[in-house]
Amino acid sequence: MTPTRSMMMVTLGCLVTGGLLLAQEQRSLTLPPGQNPHLGNPESIRSGMALYRFRCADCHGLDASGYRGPDLVAAVAGGATDERLFQTIRKGVPGTEMPPTEAPDNDLLLIIAYLHSVGTVTATERPTGNVENGAKLFSSQCASCHRVAGRGGRIGPDLTRVGIARSRTALVREIRTPSEFVAPNYETVTLVTKDGQRIRGAKKNEDVFSIQVMDTRERIQGFLKSNLQDVVYEKVSLMPEYGPGRLNDNDLNDLVGYLSTLRGADMAVR
Ligand code: HEC
Ligand code: HEC
Repeated sequence: MTPTRSMMMVTLGCLVTGGLLLAQEQRSLTLPPGQNPHLGNPESIRSGMALYRFRCADCHGLDASGYRGPDLVAAVAGGATDERLFQTIRKGVPGTEMPPTEAPDNDLLLIIAYLHSVGTVTATERPTGNVENGAKLFSSQCASCHRVAGRGGRIGPDLTRVGIARSRTALVREIRTPSEFVAPNYETVTLVTKDGQRIRGAKKNEDVFSIQVMDTRERIQGFLKSNLQDVVYEKVSLMPEYGPGRLNDNDLNDLVGYLSTLRGADMAVR
């Protein structure tokens, strides 16, 4: 049920029973087991928003429309059940940046009530653009460094399910200004050997004594630091910037539209 509809039903309930208090009482009494008691309650929604901003906004955006993490407004509008949301928030998504939490059950329910309340203004994040053109752009400009469903290069991260993992906002920023956020495990380093040879690549491993990189030809190279003259940690991504001169806004839109369709094993279903 959409929050506006459940609000309407509460309002209707008020009219029918002739009093706000009575209606609220009735509502909590008639709540089916397993339902979130905070849905549609303005005070709960405010608390949920505060919790959300503190615990989730860094990754999912201040208004839950997604940043590093996916658009949660779209997830709720897309029909994610409260039970599934609850489990995902509780357990996180193993192998991704989405962390598990030990916060009390009630905090999670408050956050979910908040997510429902923002769920009315959606559809902005649905795939748009010419996906076919996006796919063409991807194979000509990006596939040399990125794998999708087993094909492509390995210098950048595998993008097979990037449409689930990242919001459109994050995708646009990543393409226009990749150095703004460099994914862990893809930090750029240049190693300078004792004989002055320079090896530039993505850092895969490092401890006090050794360092391992993947160079730009996808070769993994390991070194003892004692054999190196210098290790230069760079702030820039190995991924080139695709400014408007290189990729115009229409093409960017098509490309992001294509990336949004990359949903891993779920691809056929969605
Ligand atoms: C450190 C970043 C980070 C934080 C903090 C974080 N998330 Fe996530 N979240 C992610 C990422 C990344 C994913 C996508 C995981 C994947 O690849 O499937 C995700 C996925 C999700 C999903 C699944 C979305 C879907 O479409 O199924 C939900 C729901 C979610 N997060 C809710 C939350 C809530 C609520 C909080 C705060 C309590 C939170 N997350 C905190 C990064 C984060
Ligand atoms: C020269 C290799 C290279 C090319 C070409 C390249 N990328 Fe990347 N890309 C990378 C590397 C390395 C990273 C990881 C570092 C970072 O986050 O900036 C990355 C990161 C990304 C990410 C973030 C992935 C994540 O998990 O957050 C996206 C999205 C992305 N690239 C899309 C593209 C698209 C779209 C193109 C083509 C327009 C492209 N890349 C071209 C190397 C490349």
